[in-house]
Amino acid sequence: MVQQTREQWGTRAGFLMAAIGSAVGLGNIWRFPYIAYDNGGGAFLVPYLVALLTAGIPLLILEYSIGHRYRSSAPLAYRRISRPAEAIGWWQVAICFVIAVYYGAIIAWSASYIWFSVTEAWGDDPNGFFFGEYLQMSETPGGVTGYVPAVALPLIAVWVVVLAILALGIRKGVERANRIFIPLLVVLFLIMVVQALTLEGATTGLDALFTPDWSAMLDGGVWVAAYGQIFFSLSIGFGIMVTYASYLKRKADLTGSAMVAGFANSSFELLAGIGVFAALGFMATAAGSAVDEVATSGIGLAFIAFPQIISTLPFGGSVFGVLFFASLVIAGLSSLISIVEVVVSAVQDRVGLGRLQAVLMVGGVIALVSVLVFPTHEGLYYLDVFDHFINQYGIVLAALVTLIVFGWVLRRLPLFQEHSNAVSSIRLGAWWKITLGVVTPILLGFMMWDSLRAELAENYGGYPVGFLLSAGWGVAIGAIVIGVIVALVPWRRADRMAAQDAERLKSGTTDTEEGDR
Ligand code: ALA
Repeated sequence: MVQQTREQWGTRAGFLMAAIGSAVGLGNIWRFPYIAYDNGGGAFLVPYLVALLTAGIPLLILEYSIGHRYRSSAPLAYRRISRPAEAIGWWQVAICFVIAVYYGAIIAWSASYIWFSVTEAWGDDPNGFFFGEYLQMSETPGGVTGYVPAVALPLIAVWVVVLAILALGIRKGVERANRIFIPLLVVLFLIMVVQALTLEGATTGLDALFTPDWSAMLDGGVWVAAYGQIFFSLSIGFGIMVTYASYLKRKADLTGSAMVAGFANSSFELLAGIGVFAALGFMATAAGSAVDEVATSGIGLAFIAFPQIISTLPFGGSVFGVLFFASLVIAGLSSLISIVEVVVSAVQDRVGLGRLQAVLMVGGVIALVSVLVFPTHEGLYYLDVFDHFINQYGIVLAALVTLIVFGWVLRRLPLFQEHSNAVSSIRLGAWWKITLGVVTPILLGFMMWDSLRAELAENYGGYPVGFLLSAGWGVAIGAIVIGVIVALVPWRRADRMAAQDAERLKSGTTDTEEGDR
């Protein structure tokens, strides 16, 4: 039976490292600093903290409780809650598939840039170098007009590392890798932040980031940004935390772990804000411009602004570049491992495959799609549109549907609260059910409506409608359709498990007791 042979984390610290490794990713380093700056600066910390406390940590606890109680991958755990809910699990698996294929590409670019930093390969034109010389981007999106081996090679290397770690299993692979990655990431990133803080103009950048614009708190868009950041950054709504918690031992402090993971993730995010804005302050001062002229996020920050900063530094530019891009690679790898694990673990539970077989087959398909699509001349267009649509209409929508189904339709929040209270250090009170049952669904519903409105008013990124329909809506809706279809296929092993569950209930033992034997 699946839960009796299921692997377990070696230690609580090992689980926490993996959970923090999943949370701390590209979203922390290149997304948070600009989102905070653009949405009220210091004042953004208020909606951000509210989002962390009312949605982030409560949802983490919910996902931990589901994974821990049912000791299964997301689809099987949801199926054991209610047969039709299995479709939400496969939908999350499909979302993780899509995110994994492009997330790997960004890590591969960052890996190339570690090397480029040493020689400052971009010369005096980081923009032309990134889009032209390196990615060899075509003028128009859609189709495929050519392949770039210089992008494919590091991407293949990324996939070899990720699949090798996953093939070693939870304890020997994922846990051990994160025990190395997380301390290494903290050390490298701290050195980079200290170097950034010593630069001339660093305080100008920090002033720009932290000076509060209190009027922003009255702006609904700022609250939407805070909740969106918390979701992506904490890796909730992906099925990741259900999967990771399914490998916990029976004795596990779920609420305490959620607090530690949540606050560690936010602390790293704040540190990233300080490092990135200190560096942007230096760049603005050196160019004699204002911080708002140089502040940016995502690809523009990492591959255009940072190379410029590295070239402008009077000394130590290469070291600064290596530290920054190595941090991106490490933070990205530990998140990518967790995203692929959702798919591997779901297929393992579904088909009953061994670890190595599942990793080679499932991970192999993900890696193949990634290596075929993203090193093309059109790769960046696909990446941009996949990322936007699968975040808005994948992760956030799946989280909303999960809360509506488990909270409102099936009314299972009291059961998960009871489960968490039975094992955790901090007991959950009514506040937990109120935040998850009322506050978060209403806010997520508002977020959905707000982004749909913007979507319909203007084509995302100015892309042609045909491209958005196929690569954007097609992928987001395709993930839902796949979720429903896979859930409709008969699953005999799960039926057997359901019968055994019923037997156990009759004889008075709980899932958790049985699973721990
Ligand atoms: N939580 C991961 C990140 O922030 C996915 O990038």
